[in-house]
Amino acid sequence: MAVDESDRSTPSPLSIALASVLERARPKTSGAVATYIPELARADPDQLGIALASVRGTVHEAGDSDAEFTIQSVSKPFVLALALEQSGLAEVTRHVGLEPSGEPFNAISLDEHTGRPLNPMINAGAIVTSSLVRGDRADEKFAVISAGLSAFAGRSLDVDEAVYSSEQATGDRNRALAYLARSAGTLASSAEVATTAYFRQCSLTVTARDLAIMAATLANGGVNPITRERVVSEDVARWTTAVMTSCGMYDASGEWLVRVGLPAKSGVGGGIAALQPEQFGIGTFSPRLDARGNSVRGVAVLEQLSERHGLHML
Ligand code: DON
Repeated sequence: MAVDESDRSTPSPLSIALASVLERARPKTSGAVATYIPELARADPDQLGIALASVRGTVHEAGDSDAEFTIQSVSKPFVLALALEQSGLAEVTRHVGLEPSGEPFNAISLDEHTGRPLNPMINAGAIVTSSLVRGDRADEKFAVISAGLSAFAGRSLDVDEAVYSSEQATGDRNRALAYLARSAGTLASSAEVATTAYFRQCSLTVTARDLAIMAATLANGGVNPITRERVVSEDVARWTTAVMTSCGMYDASGEWLVRVGLPAKSGVGGGIAALQPEQFGIGTFSPRLDARGNSVRGVAVLEQLSERHGLHML
């Protein structure tokens, strides 16, 4: 699709195209809002928003593109990028693998020979990634994560404290994953430090517009197209995008790659970030999830956009 840069009037032709795919997806009311973190159950299930940010710095939006929700697992590739930027590929992959797991996001997944979680997009691997971020204490690690994700978004992101408390209160499975990784020698901090940083990271609030700009920063080789700040190197942006391509949609990653063909990452808050390298980033938000924890209408919108506008990267 040619991303229309010429017409900045509102609504732009591209915003109209985005609104049209939203309306086609709106009747899809299957799926359910995540309830395993009680505070997430309070989300309005009918919200639906999309934004597209081009690498040239224009943003097109439709629907509830400014509604705030918690980033959840969509944080994982961006924290991976920060860890890669800080420690390099060799050090990061000493702790966490790069292979699709074909398993649910909360699977107990450690390679039996190396003790590494299979990849950084499932919880076990993401907790290890958070443990690698600079800082001894959880608040020090989280300060790096929060500043880094804010640089990706081009604005200062805040924590939803109610969701954070809810994550802490119900996070025993994640703690178990952290202890397993610790006992296998792959966690780079205590389990408590890693999970606290991870729970706060998941509780950062974003909008579909933020996710579009964050994804566009990866698409733009690590430079935020709005603020022009270099957030990570070109290599790191490419590696991160590759991991999103193979592992970003959990056990739906293979089907996603065939049907939509865009590197992407979903979260149980209802967000999806997707991108086409050197072109654009897209953020979608709709809280009802399918059985794999991916937003039902977010998936539908991205499938349609890809099909109608030939966005498949292959
Ligand atoms: O680890 C958890 O349970 C959540 N805080 C994040 C998980 C998540 O978003 C999974 N994605 N679909």
